[in-house]
Amino acid sequence: MRRKTLVFFGLILFSLFLVAAKYDYVLEEGDKTVKASECDKCHKIIYEEWSKDAHSKAYTSDAFKKASKNYEMQECVSCHAPQQNADEKNLKTRPVHKDDGVSCTSCHLRDNMIYGPYKLEAKHKSEQDASFLKSESCAGCHVPTFQEWQASGSKKTCQECHMPRVEREVVQMGFFYSLILSKRMVGRHYLDHEQLFKDAARITGEAGKGTVKLSVTNRAGGHNMPTGKYGDYRIVFHTQVKDAEGNTVFTKDEIFSTLQKNGIAPQKTVTFEYPISVVTGKRYRVNSNLTYRVEGRPEFQVASWDGEIEGGK
Ligand code: HEC
Ligand code: HEC
Ligand code: HEC
Ligand code: HEC
Ligand code: HEC
Repeated sequence: MRRKTLVFFGLILFSLFLVAAKYDYVLEEGDKTVKASECDKCHKIIYEEWSKDAHSKAYTSDAFKKASKNYEMQECVSCHAPQQNADEKNLKTRPVHKDDGVSCTSCHLRDNMIYGPYKLEAKHKSEQDASFLKSESCAGCHVPTFQEWQASGSKKTCQECHMPRVEREVVQMGFFYSLILSKRMVGRHYLDHEQLFKDAARITGEAGKGTVKLSVTNRAGGHNMPTGKYGDYRIVFHTQVKDAEGNTVFTKDEIFSTLQKNGIAPQKTVTFEYPISVVTGKRYRVNSNLTYRVEGRPEFQVASWDGEIEGGK
């Protein structure tokens, strides 16, 4: 009898322990929203990637601080430090930890529940939401880009280009958990577009006699290059012509920018033809390059082209 009671209470205690171990965290919204660094305790790799990503700097970037008049413009903060992912009109500012910008909780926490692409048992309540694998989940905050994407008929989702999946562990919680949890397909949370850019942009040229014809192509299928409507994102197409002695005889800059709304549409090519005043019989070197510029960040070159023109008519 005593033994049976012991086993009985033992079982109850054990199940209590299991439940407690199951949900170490009750994740709530509003003032109780946790910092992203809380997620770092278990999701170390994802946290590290997000820390390098633009979403984590959405509130603290100098450009945003300046443009929002030192955070006075509340309508801007509701998307740069949002409580949760929603339609553009329903975004609300997170009352705490604004420095986290577009935080883990902005995209994953809703109704005191963590949503994600899987059906699984986590250390916190979690539920599956298939929209995490669809472009629609980026639409509320990226309205113009989402519209361009729809119009482009792209077969790839935003995630397939920007969050490529690799098979790895979802959590890094030590040796024991690495034995019991299987690997899954995990999307990279550093939505880097530098490499995407280099793959997407192409310059081609045709040097004629006394003229040069240059084309820039957006080979990616997703949206305009550049895309967006909030920041000042520019691509500068710079061309320079030098004679054999190294003297510059011609320079020209063409700017594609989100402010001018003249981004190059997906799979489209823009062509420029420049007449160059040259001396017959002489040879000239042409160099064209495309540079990506966003205020307050280091610029980088995405493509370049070299050619030669012969003077003449
Ligand atoms: C809750 C709002 C929100 C959601 C949801 C969201 N974003 Fe963003 N995103 C932003 C904000 C705000 C920025 C601007 C960050 C900054 O200030 O640099 C941004 C920046 C970016 C950038 C970098 C642009 C740059 O400044 O270099 C990329 C790429 C991007 N988002 C892709 C995505 C994709 C893909 C998704 C869907 C998986 C997504 N975003 C979902 C709000 C959001
Ligand atoms: C104490 C550890 C721990 C902490 C802290 C933690 N998680 Fe998790 N999380 C897990 C485990 C375990 C899983 C399941 C992993 C698996 O099955 O491969 C998981 C799964 C997830 C999933 C996938 C859910 C799904 O249904 O697809 C998301 C999203 C997630 N966590 C987000 C977060 C966010 C956001 C935070 C911070 C607010 C956080 N987690 C904090 C342990 C943790
Ligand atoms: C801009 C929105 C956004 C932010 C911010 C964000 N995530 Fe995610 N998260 C996603 C999307 C979209 C997926 C689905 C990616 C996939 O599997 O293709 C995802 C997937 C996950 C998963 C499941 C594994 C996977 O990749 O499918 C975990 C765990 C997770 N996120 C944790 C986090 C943590 C922790 C943070 C903060 C350090 C964070 N996320 C920040 C949008 C976001
Ligand atoms: C076919 C691949 C592809 C798809 C699909 C795609 N993107 Fe991009 N994205 C790129 C490339 C390439 C760049 C860099 C060149 C450029 O600006 O277009 C980029 C850049 C960006 C930028 C940075 C701003 C800029 O133009 O430099 C944002 C923000 C962005 N993408 C958001 C999204 C969102 C949101 C979706 C889904 C609605 C999406 N992308 C779908 C390839 C893609
Ligand atoms: C609905 C969401 C949303 C709202 C509202 C919003 N932004 Fe943004 N912001 C973005 C996204 C997304 C990007 C990334 C580029 C793009 O798509 O325009 C961005 C990028 C930026 C950038 C350039 C990136 C950086 O931080 O260096 C600045 C500056 C900026 N926004 C300022 C503002 C200001 C000022 C307002 C208010 C007038 C505002 N934003 C309102 C979503 C938003």
